[in-house]
Amino acid sequence: MSVILGIETSCDETGVAVVADGSVVLANEVASQIDIHRAFGGVVPEIASREHTRIISQLVEKALDDAGLGDTPAARLDAVAATRGPGLMGSLLVGVSFAKALAYSWNRPFVPVHHIEGHLFSAFLGEPRPDFPFLALVVSGGHTQIIQCPRPHEYEILGTTRDDAVGESFDKVARLLGLSYPGGPSIQQAAEEGNPEAFQLPRAMTTVKGGLDFSYSGLKTAVLYAMQEGDVSVADMAASFQAAAVDVLLIKTKKAIKQTGAERLVLAGGVAANQQLRERLTGELDIEVFLPPFAYCIDNGAMIAAAAHSRLHHGLTGNLRTTAKPGLSL
Ligand SMILES: Nc1ncnc2c1ncn2[C@@H]1O[C@H](COP(=O)(O)OP(=O)(O)OP(=O)(O)O)[C@@H](O)[C@H]1O
Ligand SMILES: [Mg+2]
Repeated sequence: MSVILGIETSCDETGVAVVADGSVVLANEVASQIDIHRAFGGVVPEIASREHTRIISQLVEKALDDAGLGDTPAARLDAVAATRGPGLMGSLLVGVSFAKALAYSWNRPFVPVHHIEGHLFSAFLGEPRPDFPFLALVVSGGHTQIIQCPRPHEYEILGTTRDDAVGESFDKVARLLGLSYPGGPSIQQAAEEGNPEAFQLPRAMTTVKGGLDFSYSGLKTAVLYAMQEGDVSVADMAASFQAAAVDVLLIKTKKAIKQTGAERLVLAGGVAANQQLRERLTGELDIEVFLPPFAYCIDNGAMIAAAAHSRLHHGLTGNLRTTAKPGLSL
């Protein structure tokens, strides 16, 4: 059995978790900074890294206590992992530096993890767990990607967004509609009372020639133009926007499945919390669909520990010279 401490600080969540065997969460602490950044309508990098610095040591202590490793963590832990990138430099630095210092003082390997690889491994924290190979749909605040995953730690990006990420478009449209940040949950809630067919919004790049890339900025602009035409119902617009955003994800995923012959789909990233997306993927696809548990959709340390478990098993560890890398590629 391997027990790993996973630390995630790439953006505005400080996540610390202890995970056994890459799948059993012994402790999971997430301190969200959403309330701090809400006033600014988005994440302020300097404030984010200061907040990670303020809170990280107490979160690590709490996670180790919750996992029952309190006084003797070094005796039970096999590795310390942290998100290396992509993300905000100041924020990443806090997690990587803290994790390396712990790994050094406990004489355990340090395992650097790519943030999106972490999201992918959140599916391994649920039941049943996926087997490789699989196709992944990664939908978050910064990414919208269809990724072919033939073997652990081998990835081929088949499609990606050319402009806004889908989570980013939820956030921007929420702001247009006067809904609170982050936009995903507030649009989902407002949409419950709305008519998804009230507004005819575009489904960009979904024609036969569209390939597997995405474009979400036109959808946001279409919402803006529709609002300038006169009074619109927030609920109807939220429902119409959500339907269009999710439609595109379904169309592209079906296309990718046809193209690759994939037999399994793994959903990952913050937008994986979207109820309509989860229901439509499980209802409309005739292949196995693996959804991350709700608690592990948004950024957290457990997904980083889960990915690190596999990296450790494959000998993919780092060392004290491994640095944070804001533009790290998968
Ligand atoms: N229920 C939901 N429906 C739609 N979107 C959601 C929902 N819950 C959260 N989101 C969106 O998920 C995003 C946050 O996800 P996540 O924390 O993975 O992003 P990130 O870490 O900022 O970006 P990345 O993972 O690409 O670096 C936000 O854009 C948020 O609006
Ligand atoms: Mg994320």
